[in-house]
Amino acid sequence: MPILNDIRSTFLNYFAKQGHEVVQSSPLVPRNDPTLMFTNSGMVQFKNLFTGVEHRDYKRATTSQKCVRAGGKHNDLDNVGYTARHHTFFEMLGNFSFGDYFKDDAIPFAWELITKDFGIDKSRLYTTVYHTDDEAFEIWKKVGVPEDRIIRIATSDNFWQMGPTGPCGPCTEIFYDHGDHIWGGPPGSPEEDGDRFIEIWNIVFMQNEQFEDGSMRALDMQSIDTGMGLERIGALLQGSHDNYDTDLFKSLIEASANATSTDPYGDQNVHHRVIADHLRSTSFLIADGVMPSNDGRGYVLRRIMRRAMRHAHLLGAKDPVMHRLVPSLVSQMGAAYPELGQAQALIEETLRLEETRFKQTLDRGLKLLDDELAGLEEGAPLAGEAAFKLYDTYGFPLDLTQDALREKGREVDTDGFDAAMAEQKAKARAAWAGSGEAADSTIWFDIAEHKGTTDFLGYDTETAEGQVTALVKDGAEVDKAVKGDTVQIVLNQSPFYAESGGQVGDTGTVKTEGGLAEVTDTRKAAGVFIHVAEVVEGEIEVGAGAVLEVDHARRTAIRANHSATHLLHEALRETLGDHVAQRGSLNADDRLRFDFSHAKALTAEELHKVGTDVNAYIRQNAPVETRIMTPDDAREIGAQALFGEKYGDEVRVVSMGRADTGKGLDGMTYSIELCGGTHVKQTGDIGVFVLLGDSASSAGVRRIEALTGAAAFEHLEREARRMGEVAGALKAQPEDVLDRLKALMDERKTLQNEVAQLRRELAMAGGAGQGAAPEDKQIAGIKFFAQVLSGVTGKDLPPLIDEHKARMESGAVLLIADAGDKVAVAAGVTQDLTGAVSAVDLVRAAVEALGGKGGGGRPDMAQGGAKDASNAEAAVAAAEAVIGG
Ligand code: ALA
Repeated sequence: MPILNDIRSTFLNYFAKQGHEVVQSSPLVPRNDPTLMFTNSGMVQFKNLFTGVEHRDYKRATTSQKCVRAGGKHNDLDNVGYTARHHTFFEMLGNFSFGDYFKDDAIPFAWELITKDFGIDKSRLYTTVYHTDDEAFEIWKKVGVPEDRIIRIATSDNFWQMGPTGPCGPCTEIFYDHGDHIWGGPPGSPEEDGDRFIEIWNIVFMQNEQFEDGSMRALDMQSIDTGMGLERIGALLQGSHDNYDTDLFKSLIEASANATSTDPYGDQNVHHRVIADHLRSTSFLIADGVMPSNDGRGYVLRRIMRRAMRHAHLLGAKDPVMHRLVPSLVSQMGAAYPELGQAQALIEETLRLEETRFKQTLDRGLKLLDDELAGLEEGAPLAGEAAFKLYDTYGFPLDLTQDALREKGREVDTDGFDAAMAEQKAKARAAWAGSGEAADSTIWFDIAEHKGTTDFLGYDTETAEGQVTALVKDGAEVDKAVKGDTVQIVLNQSPFYAESGGQVGDTGTVKTEGGLAEVTDTRKAAGVFIHVAEVVEGEIEVGAGAVLEVDHARRTAIRANHSATHLLHEALRETLGDHVAQRGSLNADDRLRFDFSHAKALTAEELHKVGTDVNAYIRQNAPVETRIMTPDDAREIGAQALFGEKYGDEVRVVSMGRADTGKGLDGMTYSIELCGGTHVKQTGDIGVFVLLGDSASSAGVRRIEALTGAAAFEHLEREARRMGEVAGALKAQPEDVLDRLKALMDERKTLQNEVAQLRRELAMAGGAGQGAAPEDKQIAGIKFFAQVLSGVTGKDLPPLIDEHKARMESGAVLLIADAGDKVAVAAGVTQDLTGAVSAVDLVRAAVEALGGKGGGGRPDMAQGGAKDASNAEAAVAAAEAVIGG
């Protein structure tokens, strides 16, 4: 009996032999479709190949695609566990032709594979075709299906559409008759809903494209899209019509039974089925980057997880169970989907955390439910308010309450639930309006409430499709924005990071069929991402699908800076001490800035150590890991949190670097911080870190600025170039530049001294430019010397005064240094005369005569300044008048 892993390989190998490229399953979160919550069939990743928008270097492909149908249009969650074939997660096997082969080959391929390679008994097979599709009918006849087993179906059952828009076409389906011991009739018969005739393969003839306005066009090329559920074909090939009887499910069900010490196949089988199915969807979703949250995809994940956890509870499990089943799943499916093994630790931690937290309220919630039911009449629905309380206070998603009531044959008053929800939203809105945020913020709250919040995809991708849910221009909602408009674009999902936690908002482009907008910044409010943009082509309309492209180079630089900031923070704590705490940060594309508590400037050694440490951890090239934890658990393992910051029930924890620090889950993590930002995958992606310097930011807070990656390299190169130029100018080798410079400075100092000395000697000697030195005069019995000098500065005057005083032995001196736009005045009086004449008075009188003001010093030596020496004679006369009394 073939096991599921072999059936998958047989399928893929068959089509590989027929010239098909074996393509990896795409992630569960669709990258190229804004309307889908989760990838729900094999063709999703090929959507644009069918319409001819995208081309690849193959025309035939085959995949085993991970699919989730829970939440959104295809929602199978409610039935899972109670039926033989419903799943939240399943694998769709498919073969695809993009304008290559069509019906003539697709039908024989399918027939050969299932009747020869899989060896299915032909006499049990039926097929259906779209009622007008004579061509397909004839091909089936040709491969050997009797006419009475080719059933024409007129309904949409045989016309396949991915969603409201996109490629579509008529299809043909293959059914298997499980035998008359099971109730049911062939397709198209009144008993078709029974379990006897089961569809095993759907082959879609992709030939049309459906548009939003209901119109349809014929595609330029005819293509093939097929889908066969691995679980179904597996059950059939293993002799059962129940998917949960296959080898893979049996092993998961047994793991669940072991973990809860219960019987796998007795009355409790339904719980094990729920657990086995939900284990698969939750694990694959987490591996593809979805994290439990309270809206969007994260909430669907949470609903699935909690539903499984309630069933574990019904099995009597006291402690968390789900995470203990992950190894079984990885051993079953890890080879086909390596991402599962890579994310195993994350999956286990996320499940354990969710189950631990949910268990805290589960008992009380179930008791409330029992109390409510005890007071109700037989068959009466549970009041909406009670269901809302279970949701709001005890974390019971509505479908979990419905699931619990289903066993008791009751329903929930969903209108009452919706009314209670609406009332709570109205209260939240009122509280929001009063919270004093930006004046226009209520508009974002309204948009969040009516159009939904934005799902952030940017941890995993920088390109995605989204749907424009609202446009805001000049503070008001508009239906469209045209070329030249500055507009704020809201999307249902977005890879653009909205400014927060010091990381700047992303820039990039939003492209719709009608226009192109350039995003200059991204912010967020009330869970809504606001893409600040200018429409540069055509127009952008609400409702349009958009291709969103983050400026990759810029985001790469931002990411490197943000991760480097974490390493810097830790290096500072190690170097300076635990008092270092983040006070602010900026992670932009061109640089990073980090403010932290520390009282004094960093020494050169400290800066050197910090820079060296950060670069050593970059070169370590260790993976950067992200987890979701409770704030308490995060602190327990040593995570740095921002002081005074309010954190929710769950926080994102970013770890990087390996070191024996005692921090982290294994005690070997260098840096751990609570952080919602985007980071590099490996520390080596930062490239290089260059510290630009440390300065004071405010009292007790220092600021470091630094560069990473290309900017750091450019900086280093620029500096090296400059150093080369300096060395060239100094005619020295770069390593000798400092000695050469010091020698030059010394030489300069010596020369300056010599020049000053020469100037003084020249001045004393009445040398060049000074004219003949004047004679000493006698004024009121005091020897007085006055001279106007050029070519000397104010600094030269005091030594000259001293020389004159020494020469005269007793007397007064006045010197005026005329430097054109500036005049320096100095006066000196020998000690014996200071009682009679003050140098200060001499200077002041001279300065005043020169049109200046003030002057000062001691009685034996004073200085002052003025602007203009043209009145020098009057200045000398004024000084003489002072001496003369
Ligand atoms: N896309 C088709 C389906 O999902 C094959 O059934």
